Amino acid sequence: MSVTVRVPAKVNVQLAVGAARPDGFHDLANVFLAVSLYDEITATPAADGLRVTCEGPDAGQVPLDRTNLAARAAEALAARYGRAPDVHLHIAKDIPVAGGMAGGSADGAGALLACDALWGTGASREELLEICAELGSDVPFSLVGGAALGTGRGERLAELEVGGDFHWVFALAARGLSTPAVFREFDRLGEGLDIPEPVADQAVLDALAKGDPAALAVAVSNDLQPAALSLFPELSDTLAAGRAAGALAALVSGSGPTAAFLATDAKSASDIAGVLRASGTCRDVRTASGAVPGATVLD
Ligand code: C5P
Repeated sequence: MSVTVRVPAKVNVQLAVGAARPDGFHDLANVFLAVSLYDEITATPAADGLRVTCEGPDAGQVPLDRTNLAARAAEALAARYGRAPDVHLHIAKDIPVAGGMAGGSADGAGALLACDALWGTGASREELLEICAELGSDVPFSLVGGAALGTGRGERLAELEVGGDFHWVFALAARGLSTPAVFREFDRLGEGLDIPEPVADQAVLDALAKGDPAALAVAVSNDLQPAALSLFPELSDTLAAGRAAGALAALVSGSGPTAAFLATDAKSASDIAGVLRASGTCRDVRTASGAVPGATVLD
């Protein structure tokens, strides 16, 4: 018997970042939107110990040791319920690795839900969300999906209303960016500046609630974008290529380096994807839409 869980990627339609806190993290106003690029995590009982395997175009870059968030999720759940984490976790990976789309977080949330179902722990939603928050700032959102405002370091979630589908094109970069490195660059660029408290932008929330891509396009923002561009200057060519191809908005997804382009509709997204593919400014191009549900057990 095994359990498979499907988990979506995310794009941040607003990422407001405060000054570094004493613990090194940053307070955020983080508006997450779950989009239809998915990892699938399958948990199968194992005789002795925890094993992680991975397949997919980026599989070679995925750590298979105990640093993998899927492994850490299984260990955390097993420890809480006083059992051995004897499980094989297989990740079918479609979310770009180190791309700013919460791929690692998706695997953490997916493994947690899969092991919970496999072991019949009967953990409450609140308990699962607590474990997610311990695993990483973006992991609770991977469980919840839809759209949500994350505050604190991003882990305290308030679900948001979404009034229609938003169509996106994602340009995948030739290499990844490390999230801690991007936050460190944010700190370096902001040295000596007065960094305001991060607050959610009402225009972003209204555009999501209305399902209005044109309104969302003028409201999106990402405070990590200058830091990502500073570490990955070629990304500005990718963003320019998507804008020229007719995207309503072009921005870096989270800490990057995936570039996200908001399109009017599915047809426009497919057209923009075609132009980007031919532009030579990225490794691969994907289209997706959202909001979509969070981690879901498949039959
Ligand atoms: O929470 P998570 O482990 O995903 O965060 C990865 C890294 O990103 C942290 O170690 C920290 O350097 C940075 N980070 C931050 N402020 C946040 C979230 C993440 O500085 N709110």
